[in-house]
Amino acid sequence: DWNMGNYAQTAINEIREKVGDGKVLLALSGGVDSSVLAALLSKAVGKQLTCIFVDHGFMRKNEGDEVEAAFRDWDVNFVRVNAADRFFARLDGVEEPEAKRKIIGEEFIRVFEAEAKKIGTVDYFAQGTIYPDVIESGAGDAAVIKSHHNVGGLPDYVDFKEIIEPLRLLFKDETRRLGMELGLPDYLVWRQPFPGPGLAIRIIGQITPEKVAILQDADYIFREEIALAGLDRDIHQYFAVLTSMRSVGVMGDGRTYDYTLALRGVTTTDFMTADFARIPYDLLAKVSSRIVNEVKHINRVVYDVTTKPPATIEWE
Ligand code: XMP
Repeated sequence: DWNMGNYAQTAINEIREKVGDGKVLLALSGGVDSSVLAALLSKAVGKQLTCIFVDHGFMRKNEGDEVEAAFRDWDVNFVRVNAADRFFARLDGVEEPEAKRKIIGEEFIRVFEAEAKKIGTVDYFAQGTIYPDVIESGAGDAAVIKSHHNVGGLPDYVDFKEIIEPLRLLFKDETRRLGMELGLPDYLVWRQPFPGPGLAIRIIGQITPEKVAILQDADYIFREEIALAGLDRDIHQYFAVLTSMRSVGVMGDGRTYDYTLALRGVTTTDFMTADFARIPYDLLAKVSSRIVNEVKHINRVVYDVTTKPPATIEWE
């Protein structure tokens, strides 16, 4: 009879047989798929696996450290590259969303490539492709709304013999079950989708380290309150956006002229279409009041009530 424990053991045996004593390279994003893949490969081939985690500086609050903590004790070679300075330098003065996405994608590949070269020749490049990705990549020539940056898309730049994709028969919920079976922490297994370019596309226009810090703090409060209210698995994606628009407010006796923060929450089955989540007003009120009180330079909070289409889920 079929269960996830058997599946994991079969997958581990197959990987061992295929890889032999070869070296495996994985681009780890900290997302569900690449994390589950790292766990599976670790059980299968241990230190023959090197995971490279490029921290571009646009992760959510504490996220880079969480990813590192999750894998520190696993039997793998784990490399974290803190590359924020390089990314900020390249994005200086850049405002246009597609330009930002392209630069981040290119820089990501450069940093990854430089790190991969240090390992020398690898035999296998592992990708966290899951079944819905397999189907989608056959979808053809739909207009490009946004150029997607995924940490899977590197093979041209890395020296290796073959790609392995051990998750390619699994749906998302099965991938999560496999992750739990392998002993990954809940916060990795139940992580909501997070775009490759990270918070860089949740800050409208020009990005600065100060804006990233503001957004991280505000987003953290929103996520914390959603979790406390027990809604974290009902709302499929929820996050804050720093609009970069400023407006006038009043604080104590003084006038403020500070940023407007937008909150976004959506329900969806496939992320191709989405509805805005009906978050209770009382919860929005609590989040809003905490954010304007606890996060400097935000004096106004709005909730995005647009469906996709016509809006997209992310703002850039
Ligand atoms: P949009 O904004 O196009 O987003 O409605 C649909 C879903 O895709 C995620 N997203 C990305 N995921 N790389 C990713 O891996 C990206 O560059 C990227 N951009 C958007 C978005 O968070 C939403 O879940």
